[in-house]
Amino acid sequence: MIDVVLGIETSCDETSAAVLVREPRGPSLASLVILSQDIHAVFGGVVPELASRAHIRTVVPVVTRALTEAGITLNSVDALAVTAGPGLIGSLLVGVSYAKALAAATGKRLIGVHHLEGHVFAATLEDPDLEPPFVALIISGGHTLLLDVPTWGRYCLLGRTRDDAAGEAYDKVAALLGLGYPGGPEVEKLAASGQERLTLPRPMIMSGFDFSFSGLKTAVLHAVRDSDDLERDRADLAASFQAAVFDVIAAKLERALKFTGYPTIVVGGGVACNRTLAGFLQTRIGGRARVAIAPPRFNADNAAMIARAGWFHLEQGRTSDLHLEAEPRLPWPGLESKPNPSTTHLTN
Ligand code: KG4
Ligand code: ZN
Repeated sequence: MIDVVLGIETSCDETSAAVLVREPRGPSLASLVILSQDIHAVFGGVVPELASRAHIRTVVPVVTRALTEAGITLNSVDALAVTAGPGLIGSLLVGVSYAKALAAATGKRLIGVHHLEGHVFAATLEDPDLEPPFVALIISGGHTLLLDVPTWGRYCLLGRTRDDAAGEAYDKVAALLGLGYPGGPEVEKLAASGQERLTLPRPMIMSGFDFSFSGLKTAVLHAVRDSDDLERDRADLAASFQAAVFDVIAAKLERALKFTGYPTIVVGGGVACNRTLAGFLQTRIGGRARVAIAPPRFNADNAAMIARAGWFHLEQGRTSDLHLEAEPRLPWPGLESKPNPSTTHLTN
């Protein structure tokens, strides 16, 4: 029986630890500490070497703080859940090595977690009644995946990006508009003061479940070059870009709802921190389906979602041994590429 899980996440540039405890309605958050590495903003992107060094410095204090805030000691922890991949190898290695060392020293159970599966579970942290079947959209800095989730642990891939991930598009557009890194929150903020004066392309909106964002980014680049007063146009360009992204996302979700017949969509990953997107999807889809989007601290990279996904696997009787390795390209366990006719020719 699992009563307390300690989660550790170090796949990119957040050092995070969380404690989940058993409650009658499901695993409940006792503490969550997220330490974001601000240093990367100076370089306009994550510098892997700096990220792993920062994780080494902070992982022990972050875990200690999470235990303290939960009011427990390591003795009460039943199992350790750690992100094993995908992510930056140097960053992943810190969390995995530390979790393995803790497991070896204490004899506690260990479970390696796939980072993207964590993002799917994030929405259950505040909404423990959320259950499959649902359509899940994971939109992060490195991935854009549309999934048919018939049951926990099974993920049928409906579509993915053919080029840039959604978050990557935000970050690149932010750079074009002279905004800082990470770009998503900056673009969202700027867009709020602008208007969609320019109709930008909605790539692949009419076909299937796959996404493409690089053409949209190039359209923004051309608009930036064509502008004779970028200072004046920036907010409108941000709003126009965001409107195009939202439209494509909503169209794919609507198509997936129709295709699966499911009553619920779950949106997760860093881009799901965008509250304007959450509001847009509620308005556009909320009347027909339940739209489940976790609050930003659970959609940004965090250890609570890793502990929650790990909890699920532990309850299924799975554990990792001390040979658990950090895998920058870890395949997603339970991900099926279900061939279906809709991936290429669906038009509505
Ligand atoms: O999931 P995540 O924290 O890290 C990865 O696993 O990749 O996602 C990070 C991405 C970045 O590209 C960031 O710009 C984007 O999420 N992001 C946002 C917002 N907050 C973060 N994108 C749009 N709007 C936001 N408010
Ligand atoms: Zn992530």
